[in-house]
Amino acid sequence: MQSEDKPQYATPYEWIGGEAKVQQLVEHFYDLMDLEPRYAALRAAHGSTLEQARQKLAWFLTGWLGGPQHYTDRFGHPRLRMRHMPFSIGIQERDQWLACMDQAMGDVGIDEALRERLRNSFFQTADWMRNVGA
Ligand code: HEM
Repeated sequence: MQSEDKPQYATPYEWIGGEAKVQQLVEHFYDLMDLEPRYAALRAAHGSTLEQARQKLAWFLTGWLGGPQHYTDRFGHPRLRMRHMPFSIGIQERDQWLACMDQAMGDVGIDEALRERLRNSFFQTADWMRNVGA
């Protein structure tokens, strides 16, 4: 393994740059979702305001990356698939979520090696969230 594949960080949370960076990533993710026409189907799956989603995703990702468990402290087990059941999520929504997150990771300057790892992890999670056929 090359040295750049073995970062000197205990967790992806440290690697990404801690809470402020997670916050920045999530803010930019939802800003893009709100503004970019190519994420319109994804935006349409959400309610009129994204404020609750912003706060919850930032709390969730902080813990998911290995940082403080803000989300589970407040809401218990994430049960993400169950919590996404009210929304219609197919291939298009999954792919727009992943593209939006990938663009956000690029724009806020996530380390490329970490970005690649997260891209794979996000795919697994987003694909598991699908609850309609297409
Ligand atoms: C696959 C496409 C996805 C779609 C269309 C989608 C859509 C949504 C929507 C509409 C909400 C509700 C927002 C609100 O309360 O205002 C939500 C909540 C949430 N999403 Fe997603 N999501 C997707 C994938 C993901 C992924 C991959 C993750 C995690 C990596 C994630 C994490 C969350 C979390 C933590 C919440 C808050 C749940 C709660 O406590 O209510 N979502 N999502």
